Amino acid sequence: MIKQLVMATNNANKLREAREILAPLGIEVLSQREAGANCDPEENGATFAENALIKAKAVYEAVGLPTIADDSGLCVDAMDGRPGVYSARYAPEGQHCAKLLEEMKDVPEDKRGAAFRCTIAYIDENGYDTMSGDCKGAIGYEQRGTNGFGYDPVFMVGDRTMAELTADEKNKISHRGAALRELYSFLKERYGD
Ligand code: IMP
Repeated sequence: MIKQLVMATNNANKLREAREILAPLGIEVLSQREAGANCDPEENGATFAENALIKAKAVYEAVGLPTIADDSGLCVDAMDGRPGVYSARYAPEGQHCAKLLEEMKDVPEDKRGAAFRCTIAYIDENGYDTMSGDCKGAIGYEQRGTNGFGYDPVFMVGDRTMAELTADEKNKISHRGAALRELYSFLKERYGD
């Protein structure tokens, strides 16, 4: 099994989740900063996988250790999968939920389905691979809850928004958690225990 893995991020929540899920494999997960990489490549891919690979390759080339990077976003059925890879750029900071509610205001209950999607790219000296995870839900009618970030206050899972879940509850069902569990299986299969 590999001993160390760099995650191409300095986001504390993403690091915590990756550390928890990969802990049984005995892998130490380093942040980009801890690994000494200082890169922020342009994410100009057309898919989550392309963007995740752009980030993973940049950090791998800088540090030469096995690296993962993730890219994620919200895909809304009634909007043909938008904002998708453009989720972060969909609206000015702090206005994403309000803009989405406005765009969805005439969409009926049974057409409000949506999914958070996440793709993780893994790269090491043997090449690269990608794994994905989904979290299915629906777009609500108002913003609720103060936990989480981004579109969480309008993303309904059952009768609560994602922003009304605790961090542990969210990690159990999140798209990123699902993709990380795929990564866990991939590493276990490739490198054994
Ligand atoms: P990134 O992959 O971390 O760059 O996230 C891209 C964008 O997708 C974020 O800026 C958010 O707007 C949205 N997003 C991704 N994951 C989540 C989530 O778990 N909750 C809410 N919004 C998310």
